[in-house]
Amino acid sequence: MTTSTSICCIGAGYVGGPTMAMIAKQCPDIPVRVVDLNQSRIDQWNSDNLPVYEPGLDEVVKEARGRNLFFSTDVQKCIQESSIIFIAVNTPTKSFGVGAGRAANLEFIEKCARTIAECSTGHKIVVEKSTLPVRTAEAVKRILHSSASGATFDVLSNPEFLAEGTAVEDLLKPDRVLIGGESSAAIETLAKVYERWIPRDKILTTNLWSSELSKLTANAFLAQRVSSINAISALCEATGADVDEVARAIGTDSRIGPKFLKASVGFGGSCFQKDILNLVYLCEHFGLKEVAQYWEQVVCMNDYQKRRFSARIVRTMFNTVSDKKIAILGFAFKKDTNDTRESAAIHVCRDLLDERARLSIYDPRVPESQIRNDLQLAFSDALGGLSDKHKQLIDKNVTVHKSLLEATRDSHAIAVLTEWDEFKSFDGKQVFDSMYRPAFLFDGRNVVNRQQLTEIGFEVHSIGRASEVLL
Ligand SMILES: NC(=O)c1ccc[n+]([C@@H]2O[C@H](COP(=O)([O-])OP(=O)(O)OC[C@H]3O[C@@H](n4cnc5c(N)ncnc54)[C@H](O)[C@@H]3O)[C@@H](O)[C@H]2O)c1
Repeated sequence: MTTSTSICCIGAGYVGGPTMAMIAKQCPDIPVRVVDLNQSRIDQWNSDNLPVYEPGLDEVVKEARGRNLFFSTDVQKCIQESSIIFIAVNTPTKSFGVGAGRAANLEFIEKCARTIAECSTGHKIVVEKSTLPVRTAEAVKRILHSSASGATFDVLSNPEFLAEGTAVEDLLKPDRVLIGGESSAAIETLAKVYERWIPRDKILTTNLWSSELSKLTANAFLAQRVSSINAISALCEATGADVDEVARAIGTDSRIGPKFLKASVGFGGSCFQKDILNLVYLCEHFGLKEVAQYWEQVVCMNDYQKRRFSARIVRTMFNTVSDKKIAILGFAFKKDTNDTRESAAIHVCRDLLDERARLSIYDPRVPESQIRNDLQLAFSDALGGLSDKHKQLIDKNVTVHKSLLEATRDSHAIAVLTEWDEFKSFDGKQVFDSMYRPAFLFDGRNVVNRQQLTEIGFEVHSIGRASEVLL
């Protein structure tokens, strides 16, 4: 490794922040600069209150920050000072124009490529860390090569496979690191950074297009497993089979394996839905209608699962939840993250508010401002407009609480929407005593101690298990 290696990462989000913190930790001699246009996000990265909650992340950042890890809004200067530039900006689903609702919005990627082209001199390696449609590198290359400064570039694809909630562990011991590119020298330079802590045989190299497509495919396969077991959960509820038992039985087959077979209220997060829809859009673009339809079903099944859950709550509670208080436990899309993007909780809360339920929400990591913002967005039109009626509905019918006990007090029902550990073993008796009867509990993650809570007197409804009252 040349001592002149220095890194800049554009985008200080859930990927850019943790990924660069890990590189900085493992390579103390390499300066790593993380830049973002969002001043308050950068301020948070420079404070004790990081914008991303991940177990173990505080320690990693504290070790490297100020030594060789820097957070800044000076995008141009940091690009100029670095030999490797990662692009880790967001690539949301387009909400307007051609491909709306499916294609990835590449506006931020293109802006980054233009900024890099404008302010670079000499030779730079540009690394796509964001998840991108196949052949995006072609467009990035064309923009970079139009640089008037005479700078030269190699473009690599190095998609990130970390999962939120376990990001530090995933970055420390990834199943593999994937680097796609045309220049073997550029691939080697990047591989040498990862080699500091990752065994060489886990660093896979491919061509650019395989690397870009592998990331979309990985997310499509993972989400497909969740939708597959969720589809079976509906059949279990109708037949008396238990989806957790079915998952255990099939997961022991080594050809299937046990991971990603947990039935739930539906997958969320910023990636699965976005990346599958992107895959669907690509297939349609290349005239592969049947392939597009095949993958789209994974998203359809997820939407169905979320709707099915809220419908079950209403049906079970005597077909009306109007003016009933429902405690919502968990708002993040999964445990151990403060991220709420595409969280199933948002959809379930919207459905229940539509039914005029009163919601008392508790999540250990998501702030009230984020919860209210997400609910307002859920009721907004395509241009982000929120009607006065919907705003009033949220203001009047939603309260956010600081503890499980506070949220569940005087409630008619509890809905568990995130699998936070504290929801697995709460004081059932104390909660039960403060609730109306029947005390309903809808477990959207199958995490509560069903038997114990049933003995206390709760009427527990789990995913993929017929309700005992119906058996
Ligand atoms: N979140 C995940 O678990 C995950 C995992 C793997 C891959 N990815 C992919 O990584 C990419 C980033 O995801 P994320 O979750 O970190 O997004 P994010 O929204 O948390 O962060 C993106 C950041 O980029 C910044 N940004 C946008 N345009 C910019 C510009 N021109 N200059 C400087 N900063 C700019 C934004 O202000 C934001 O802070 C996406 O393509 C995503 O699909 C995400």
